[in-house]
Amino acid sequence: MSEGRTGNFVVLKFGGTSVSSLERWETIAAVVERRIAEGVKPVIVCSALSGVSNLLENLVDEAAKGRHEELLLELKARHRALAEEMDLSFEVVLGPDFEELERLALGASLVREVSARLHARMLAFGEIMCTRLGAAYLEKTGRGIAWMDARDCLQTACKHTITDRRRFLSATCETEALPGLQEKFRSLAESAILTQGFIARDADGETVLLGRGGSDTSAAYFAAALEARRCEIWTDVPGVFTANPNQVPGARLIRSLDYEEAQEITSTGAKVLHPNCINSLHKSGIPLHVRCTERPELESTTISSAAREGGAYLKAISSKRGVLLISMEDVNMWRQAGFLADVFAPFKHHGLSIDLVSTSETNVTVSLDAAPDALDARTIEALKADLEPLCDVRLIGPCALVSLVGRNIRAILHRIGPALEVFKEKKVYLLSQAASDLNFSAVVDEEEAERLVRKLHDLLIREDAGGRLFGPTWRELHDLKAENAVSGPDAWWRMRRKELLELAKAESPRYIYDTESLERAADELAALASVGRICYAVKANNHPEILGIFESRGLCFECVSIGEIRLLLKLFPQLDRDRILFTPNFAPKSEYAEGLSTGVNVTLDNLYPLQTWPELFKGREIFVRLDPGQGRGHHKHVHTAGAQSKFGVSPLQIEEFAARAAEAGGKVVGLHAHTGSGILTSENWSEEALFLAETAARFPDVRVLDLGGGLGVPEKPGQTPLDLAAVDESLQKIRRAYPQFELWLEPGRFLVAHAGVLLTTVTQTKEKGERRFVGVDAGMNSLVRPMMYGSYHEIVNLSRLEEGPPVVADVVGPICESGDTFGFSRRLDEPREGDVMLVAVAGAYGRAMSSEYNVRPPAGEVMLEKR
Ligand code: LLP
Repeated sequence: MSEGRTGNFVVLKFGGTSVSSLERWETIAAVVERRIAEGVKPVIVCSALSGVSNLLENLVDEAAKGRHEELLLELKARHRALAEEMDLSFEVVLGPDFEELERLALGASLVREVSARLHARMLAFGEIMCTRLGAAYLEKTGRGIAWMDARDCLQTACKHTITDRRRFLSATCETEALPGLQEKFRSLAESAILTQGFIARDADGETVLLGRGGSDTSAAYFAAALEARRCEIWTDVPGVFTANPNQVPGARLIRSLDYEEAQEITSTGAKVLHPNCINSLHKSGIPLHVRCTERPELESTTISSAAREGGAYLKAISSKRGVLLISMEDVNMWRQAGFLADVFAPFKHHGLSIDLVSTSETNVTVSLDAAPDALDARTIEALKADLEPLCDVRLIGPCALVSLVGRNIRAILHRIGPALEVFKEKKVYLLSQAASDLNFSAVVDEEEAERLVRKLHDLLIREDAGGRLFGPTWRELHDLKAENAVSGPDAWWRMRRKELLELAKAESPRYIYDTESLERAADELAALASVGRICYAVKANNHPEILGIFESRGLCFECVSIGEIRLLLKLFPQLDRDRILFTPNFAPKSEYAEGLSTGVNVTLDNLYPLQTWPELFKGREIFVRLDPGQGRGHHKHVHTAGAQSKFGVSPLQIEEFAARAAEAGGKVVGLHAHTGSGILTSENWSEEALFLAETAARFPDVRVLDLGGGLGVPEKPGQTPLDLAAVDESLQKIRRAYPQFELWLEPGRFLVAHAGVLLTTVTQTKEKGERRFVGVDAGMNSLVRPMMYGSYHEIVNLSRLEEGPPVVADVVGPICESGDTFGFSRRLDEPREGDVMLVAVAGAYGRAMSSEYNVRPPAGEVMLEKR
């Protein structure tokens, strides 16, 4: 990377979280020492301790009401705590500053008013006190530096025509080289300089603030003034990401940005940097590096003019909340010269900056930025009043702006179609494509933004992910090995690693099932006091030995096909037929006939069999599956209730169902509902129970309420296990209210998922650009869940468990489909040919859904004996 200036200075800015503890000041000292060793003079620009600027803002408000004492105490406590940590005397280092702050607060409380001028003076103490502590600590530890008051360095461009608020609270400086300042700094004997962000002085010598995010801006002004080699912004994140990592943990670090892209990203929502700062650096051509104080070794984002790429690409999906739309409608505006000038004038008058504009023949809609100091309700009301004589005004909000940022975005727009599916029933208020082709933005309801960002990111960023543009994901950077460990450090397969490696050597790919885990899961469910029967859903895994374990522990079975029933009866000829519940869906008549004659419990989930084959049900007891109205589960393909679902009888048809059943001579003894699969919300089953209990009033012979399966298990990192105790407790309440009914559950996944893993062997590896692939001998024909539902399965290199070096790669199978991928961008201990990879939590719907696709036999199965 070519540096913009060859100057002797480097500006290092440390934000609130980077200056709030002794540990962080040690990092600062270490960084400064490294820079000095580089042969440059570091200029350190600091923010206030984290949270202190907000406390000071509150102090300003409360002082005007005479209620400042408590806040002063809190501010004192914050600074005293750091002073003590640094083994410094608060009184010696900060006594005089704090006394002055107290005097100012007291003065304000007496006049019951805080002028903008006083506001700025009070706020400045945040930065002043922080840097005094920092300087004293560095001095004490033998790393003396020169402390400078930033107000003696930076002077703002003073415009007396603007309001006092803007003059004192969001002032700006010229971005210019200041040879005098360079000379002054150069002549200081100390090898580094410590100063404040956020504050400056105006031509009248008054303290002024540089607006929110002002410390970044200060750093940029200092960099320009000193013609610095570069400006480093040290913060709590390692750089600019392709999306807000709190919303999208798979967001990737952006390696480099040019100034314009950075400007777009930061002004459309990314909070790492303040857009004003980038603008100033752009003007002076000084590169900016973002660094993470907590992890100084991490690679960062670099912003410079050298980062300009050719072609069309996307770098980020950003979003910004708190956007307000103002729709201005006037049927007469068409061809009316000067209309826009007229309606825009009040915006200027109220100091409101318009972000996006959309016009039609009768309507102009604009969006206003939600900069914290920009949108106060009174200003908006005043604006509205000024606009009303000109047109019909409507305020729409709170909205969010979702933006795609990159270059030549027009060329990529066709790919965003599927993401807009989110908006089938939701509104996009405004779409805007920047003429520069640097961004494409949509304004949507605030609560829709996060979903849209995730979808767009999934769709658009991941595809480009291994390229030169992006670094590791947020998740990878945070070394989520522990968080990745869905199965936990004491997972059974860790304890039995050696045996598993041998089993895989003998035959691969292979599913391995752990008997103890199966038994433990069965015992856990058997302990639910509220539940009369646990019917294992055979579809999840029909391995004969697994069925045997559950049979011997007294579980019942839920079957969806006559095949599953025949299998059970073949394995356990003596099995009491009553222990089988048959819940077919659109099965042929013959399956009902066979089920009934075998003597198992049969569930109808349609009127059709009663209407068309009434003779089958004469004198029979039957269950009826109802549609509880709302589906749930880990993916829409496994939601099994609601208007769109093929399952269950609609509650509207209950009367008819009851009448037909009676006509056919059948007796409804059980009601059934199943909302979906992979559910982690504990209320699901009691809600179903209540619904069924209420419907049961229509069926006098009902004695069983079957609440279906769907009990989820943690599959993805960060998922909390289902709270079984809460499920039990809520069902106990139902039992107490409706003691006449027995409650049944029919779990599949819960009983088998964690007990099964898929072992598969590395066949080949590949690198394509920066993307890496690890090929394994199992494919989607052995485990289709990732392909079918985008399911997450933890993957580890069992041969080299935690023996690094880690690499990030996609794990792919040999099947002739691009979707034949078990995991994207997984962090793995570097896999080599012959290594055994373990795909975890694969006991449910793994082998059961496998196929012979591509004439590749699916993975075999082995039961692991108890030890
Ligand atoms: N009862 C009925 C009526 C069902 O349809 C199902 C599952 C269950 C019980 C058991 O659900 P579980 O407790 O296992 O969630 N292949 C998908 C799951 C499909 C579930 C189908 N029905 C997957 O791999 O996630």
